[in-house]
Amino acid sequence: MSIRIRQMMKRFGSTEVLRGVDLDVAQGELVALLGPSGSGKTTLLKIIAGLEWPDAGELRVEGEDWLQLEAQRRRIGFVFQHYALFPHMTVRDNIAFGLSVRPRAIRPGRDQIAAKVEELLSFLQIGHLGGRYPAELSGGQRQRVALGRALAIEPKLLLLDEPFGALDASIRRDLRRWLRSVHEATNSTTLFVTHDQEEAFELADRVVIMGAGRIEQVGTAEHIHDYPATPFVARFMGATVELPVTLRAGRAERAGWDLTALPRAALPEGRGTLFVRPGDVEVRPDPAGEARILSAFSTGSTWRLELEDAGGMRIEAELPRRGQPELQQGASARLRATAGRVFPGGTDDGAAQPSAPIPLSKEIRR
Ligand SMILES: Nc1ncnc2c1ncn2[C@@H]1O[C@H](COP(=O)(O)OP(=O)(O)O)[C@@H](O)[C@H]1O
Ligand SMILES: [Mg+2]
Repeated sequence: MSIRIRQMMKRFGSTEVLRGVDLDVAQGELVALLGPSGSGKTTLLKIIAGLEWPDAGELRVEGEDWLQLEAQRRRIGFVFQHYALFPHMTVRDNIAFGLSVRPRAIRPGRDQIAAKVEELLSFLQIGHLGGRYPAELSGGQRQRVALGRALAIEPKLLLLDEPFGALDASIRRDLRRWLRSVHEATNSTTLFVTHDQEEAFELADRVVIMGAGRIEQVGTAEHIHDYPATPFVARFMGATVELPVTLRAGRAERAGWDLTALPRAALPEGRGTLFVRPGDVEVRPDPAGEARILSAFSTGSTWRLELEDAGGMRIEAELPRRGQPELQQGASARLRATAGRVFPGGTDDGAAQPSAPIPLSKEIRR
């Protein structure tokens, strides 16, 4: 099913949770909604599911106006972070639930339901667990059952809200690959919420970055990583070194820094802000260097440094530990950015501020 969302607005009391969301998802796509806690991901998913209603905006699925359609008629499979399996039902009965509670007129026969459940059990590779109760399952197994229950009704759309949130990293990785294969085998359209970058980028065809009720960027993992569209995305993607720079002939300049590795860009002359990941800061110990190492400690695989540059900015840098010359507190160094993203405007005049958070407006916008 294709989804089309336009100018979606939602507020709870005085909190604007969605502030004009536009999004298109194509049939068969697996899209991740990625963003910090409180950015409105769950609210957007609930509106699509029919569990919340927006204050304004448009939601169309295959061209049909879903805001006119009650939740039960949307045929959606929904899996939440905190798996709400029915504790007093076996795995089989949990998976059968959505079919067995249908009105008689559209309920499949008992045998048909049983056959569907067996098919799902083997498809989800939990055939041996059918007779167990949720309390007798591991977290990963419960999530498979939760997904089985969501898939039983043959949903038009699969909505997953941090489905692996509560699980260990290694189980999450397994389930990720498995979910990708389930998605491909069912040819469903899947929207997946996470605040875990790696999860979003590994799993999804496209990633939607949300910040404070707005979509900040939509794209592939590589594109978002290399070309964050806004300061918010740059920060969110880990570019925590934020430097005031001077823009001249499409290049960023800053005293004591070698910024010649950054690509020339069409930027207005004047003030700018450069965002760099700590791992993209090159630190070369050099008595003639204008930067000073304030602290250095090793995590085993990397050096974490705190430095002060020629302009007095405190920055962090992260370097592989192996093959580094000795980095000592108090030593002088030269700095180079091997990659980064420049936005026009200073950090203090608002121009390079993230588009979020934005102060709340008093009246409801419709
Ligand atoms: N039912 C509700 N009533 C009041 N505030 C809510 C409700 N649901 C969500 N919120 C608020 O809306 C904001 C976004 O929430 P949510 O959509 O859950 O974000 P996310 O899933 O990205 O963490 C948060 O500030 C949250 O506290
Ligand atoms: Mg949420």
